Formats: sequence, structure tokens, C-alpha cells
Amino acid sequence: MTETLTLRRPDDWHLHLRDGAMLAAVLPESARHFARAIVMPNLVPPVTTAAQAAAYRRRILDALPEGMAFEPLMTLYLTEDTDPEDVAAAAREGLVRAVKLYPAGATTNSASGVRDFSRIRPVLERMAETGLPLCVHGEVTDEEVDIFDREAVFLARVLDPLRRATPGLRVVLEHVTTAEGVDYVRDGGKDIAATITAHHLVINRNHILAGGIRPHYYCLPVAKRETHRAALLEAATSGHPRFFLGTDSAPHTDAAKLAPCGCAGCFTAPNALPILAEVFERAGALDRLEAFVSLNGPAFYRLPPNEETITLRRGTPAAGPARIDTAEGPVTVFDPGFPLHWSVTP
Ligand code: DOR
Ligand code: ZN
Repeated sequence: MTETLTLRRPDDWHLHLRDGAMLAAVLPESARHFARAIVMPNLVPPVTTAAQAAAYRRRILDALPEGMAFEPLMTLYLTEDTDPEDVAAAAREGLVRAVKLYPAGATTNSASGVRDFSRIRPVLERMAETGLPLCVHGEVTDEEVDIFDREAVFLARVLDPLRRATPGLRVVLEHVTTAEGVDYVRDGGKDIAATITAHHLVINRNHILAGGIRPHYYCLPVAKRETHRAALLEAATSGHPRFFLGTDSAPHTDAAKLAPCGCAGCFTAPNALPILAEVFERAGALDRLEAFVSLNGPAFYRLPPNEETITLRRGTPAAGPARIDTAEGPVTVFDPGFPLHWSVTP
């Protein structure tokens, strides 16, 4: 049995770092394992301009503990008023690596997102010319659509028409949760990829709701039925180059999670890699873990893979911390519900 596994240092292609005290607390948890991350712009207020992205990047680097290396790859929050020239200039400088599309109201801090998709045509056309990827939160927000169907409906109603109207637009379907999403990406050609989270490879909707409600498993898009989890697992472990890791690690304090109207998000930064090693090993696909966490993402984003490596070691199950303390209150770490045999060596 494999006892150690050395991989090129992974990247996280979808991460929430927040700001202020929360940023200071969660950043080391990502920087410990990941070299780079696509940093989500859903702050309050959102990061909508190149100037705001530059300032946020600076705050991230200032919060990084001495001796840790980490490169934040910045994104802009797309609104109906986004200036195509601001986006193009930020991309040219290498400051911004993607633009994030939130349908208005889809998730945490998405009120400034897009309602009228015709208003973003000029930005999307500019992005298609420059090759800058559009990261998409792929759910409709229509109250009449059942929450478990919102991703599949989004593909047909929004994403497919949008891509047909903007040939050459490069799209990342973020945190894909359905078999329909996996098929859409697999059949969608070279300009579309998907990120998959660690938690969506582990839980289905029963884990959230059967035998008691588990707020720490509530995230958006919400986990679907088991057949969908199986489709995600197949895609992640297949080695297919257009599927890669985006943890969507999304810290909220326990007070915000354990409330009558609790926030969406799973905090997986500390244990995403041990969880993935376990999941890939069970699937007989440990040899494809490096493609998923370290190679496929950079290839799609047209960046070189990391030169450094990390080593995972197999041993007796070691539980990491159940929560981390922040100045805003404790944040619970995602519990996969099974023992973790793999740890990242220091
Ligand atoms: O569960 C989620 N949490 N999904 C998102 O799309 C946003 C994120 C957050 O920012 O908390
Ligand atoms: Zn997210």
C-alpha cells in the first residue's frame, strides 16, 4: 500500500478568504497547503473594480504570517455596471485572473449580482477576446424553481444561451453539484471547465437532513442526491483535464451557522487535502489526485503548475482540530464523517 504521496503543490481554484479578523484566522489554513487560490470577491461591499481588487490583494498579503508563501489570484464581482475596459486593463496587468458571475440573490452577499443578463454582454464579449475566464455560480434564483433543481435549470436557461451568444467565452462552472452539470462540462468543449469541492464529493442531501439537521453541511449549491455525488466523484477521479479542485471553503462563525436562518458554507481549508486523499484512495484513483489538485487547474487558467511539492503520509487516523478560533468567534471545520488516514507532512 502506498505510504507517502508526493505531489506538485496544489492550488485552490475557488476560495473565500473574507476580510479583517476572519481573513487573518483562515488565511494560514489555506496557505499551509495551497500555493495559490482564486479568491472570491463576495465581500461586503463586493470587490467590483480593479482598484478594489488591488487593495484586497494587499490586505491578503499583509495578513499572511511571516515565512508563509501564498499567491492570491484576484477576481472581480460582475455587476450590471461593470466597465469592460476596467476588467481588460486589470487582466492585462495580471492583477485579475477571472470575473465572478453571481445571479442576484443566489448566495451569500450576492445582492449586487446580475438580474438582466443582457446588461453584461459587453463585458463578456471583451472577456471572450482576451481569454479571461468567467467563474459562474450556476443556480437560478427563481422562487418557483425547487432548490435541488436550480443548477440544472441554470444550465439550460442561462448558461447555455449565454455561451452560444458569446463564442470563445471561457467559463468555469463553479462547485458543480449535479450529473447534468458534469455532462454539460464534459460535452462542452475546450472553453468550459468545472471546479468540484471536497465536501460535495463526501456528502449527499441525506447527510444534511436525515436523522437531524446538520447546519455545518449546508452550503450552496446544496448537496444533491447520491447519484449526483457519484457523478461528481467519477468526474473528479477520472483525470479529465477540465475538472479540478475549488474547495469553496467558506468560513462562517458557529453563531452564524447555528441560527434560525443559518449561513451557507462549509469550512474545508484545513482538511480538504486529507479528505481528497481518502476519497481518491477509496476510488482506486490516488494516481489521479495530482491532476485534480495540482495540474488541471493551472492548465485551464493558463498558468504554470507549481514547482514545489508537498508530501502526504498515510498513518493512523488523525483528527485535525474540530474548529478554529477567530476574533469573531469559533468556526467549525468540515467533518467528513469518516476517519482521515492521510496527513500533509509539515
Ligand atoms: O455555501 C456557500 N457559501 N456557497 C456560496 O456560493 C457562497 C459561500 C459563502 O460566501 O459563504
Ligand atoms: Zn463560493
